Amino acid sequence: MTTNFNAVRVLPKRAKAHAHLVCVESVKGGFGDLTKADLANADFRGEAGQVMSYPQDGRMLALVGLGNQDSLTTTKLRNAGALIAKKFSHLAWIGADLQDVPQASARHLQALAEGISLGGYRFLAHKTKGKPSKLKRIDVASGSGSQSTAQEALNVGGVVARAQMLARDLINEPGGTLTAVEFANRGAEIGREGGLEVRVWDKDDIAEAGLGGLLGVNRGSTIPPRLLELTYVPTEQAQGSLTFVGKGIVFDAGGLSIKAAQPMMTMKYDMSGGAAVIAAMSALPELAPAKKVRALVPMTDNMLGGDATRPGDVLKIRNGKTIEVLNTDAEGRLILADALSLACEAKPDAIIDLATLTGACAIALGPKIAGLMGNNDEWIEAIRQASDRTDERVWQLPLPPDYVKQFESSVADMKNIGKPQGGAITAGLILKEFVDDTPWAHLDIAGPSWSDSDEDELAKGGSGFGVRLLIDLAKNFRAPNRSTSR
Ligand code: BES
Ligand code: ZN
Ligand code: ZN
Repeated sequence: MTTNFNAVRVLPKRAKAHAHLVCVESVKGGFGDLTKADLANADFRGEAGQVMSYPQDGRMLALVGLGNQDSLTTTKLRNAGALIAKKFSHLAWIGADLQDVPQASARHLQALAEGISLGGYRFLAHKTKGKPSKLKRIDVASGSGSQSTAQEALNVGGVVARAQMLARDLINEPGGTLTAVEFANRGAEIGREGGLEVRVWDKDDIAEAGLGGLLGVNRGSTIPPRLLELTYVPTEQAQGSLTFVGKGIVFDAGGLSIKAAQPMMTMKYDMSGGAAVIAAMSALPELAPAKKVRALVPMTDNMLGGDATRPGDVLKIRNGKTIEVLNTDAEGRLILADALSLACEAKPDAIIDLATLTGACAIALGPKIAGLMGNNDEWIEAIRQASDRTDERVWQLPLPPDYVKQFESSVADMKNIGKPQGGAITAGLILKEFVDDTPWAHLDIAGPSWSDSDEDELAKGGSGFGVRLLIDLAKNFRAPNRSTSR
């Protein structure tokens, strides 16, 4: 379901705002017909996250708090938008009034639109009696800036949120229906619809290209692997080239090093990196950044069929390096090794990969923050800034060279696991073996890709984390200095 946003100067009389966004300061002495005492009775002070419903002319209206004027953030507007979407999901059309918050700028409006769209998201593909949100159109009266700037910000927010919900749909689809073949087909369809160049590599293409990591992980499956390649070429002269890589394990059973029942339950989300990459690509033609962006998503499940990769087997990756597989559940790094090697061959200005790579990262940083690692400080800084602008939080972890000896192997160039401690870092260091001096960064999104609850703009299930950040990165991309990669 997509929501249409309409920036208006004033709301039509009959429609008058259903939702008034207010700051602490704007409700100090009451609000409209509501007296100070009415607000006090409802304990409504305009704090962020507070909502007060009240009837007027036979309709239920709501005051939505944003906190103090001088501490307005995009997160607060996104969360307020989600609250509005949840509160008014039974209506097809609402008016939202931001005129009491003149400090709200274009980026705040974009966040509001994102929140309203995302807050209405429900995954209903397999529910026979699912109730989708009815919200189709929102008229937003904003207090400041021109109407066209406001409209543009709302439109961008709508496009970004639509992409993020597309990622959620892919993630929430079970591993048995969204197989690697199906994932590639859907990704290709999404790419073609958006006007991207599309190439689907089948098993023969993958074997011919020597993608031994992807083939090795796929060996336990009856369903063949795929590698999806999408390319966005701007209509104007491209100012730089960027490659997105996403982990596309459609279901991670762990292979012969099988997972326990509990941690296996959510493993359909092990393709969240791939989903975020595909979804972000889908938004580029509409937003038209003047950069070339290529996406590579290796896809397979990690199963334990009769000819599955055995612990002790050695795989040869695209760049010629060999890996002894001692734990078949550390499979993400094996398929990413191939994809990163391939990505580097085309010499893009920078690479970023997104992967639900390690439980260790989720334990270290929790459910809302991704681990950020990489070989180039300038590129890492650009990702931090995109993170700040999009509120998709990241935290940098080091890649200490002296940890490399943890994954030395006696039979191959390396093994696929290190010591039990610092697992997010050893995984990052293994990936680093497959990039050259190309500025590269890795986001371990094992924590924030899944939500256990419906809080804020999230719905229980796949979150689509990374979509906003990737789109922002593409828009603001400037080639980092390659010679400073280390
Ligand atoms: N897909 C998992 C990582 C994961 C775990 C993501 C929990 C989300 C939640 C990955 O393939 C994996 O199993 N990693 C192992 C690595 C270990 C065997 C070195 C892990 O994290 O336990
Ligand atoms: Zn695994
Ligand atoms: Zn995995």
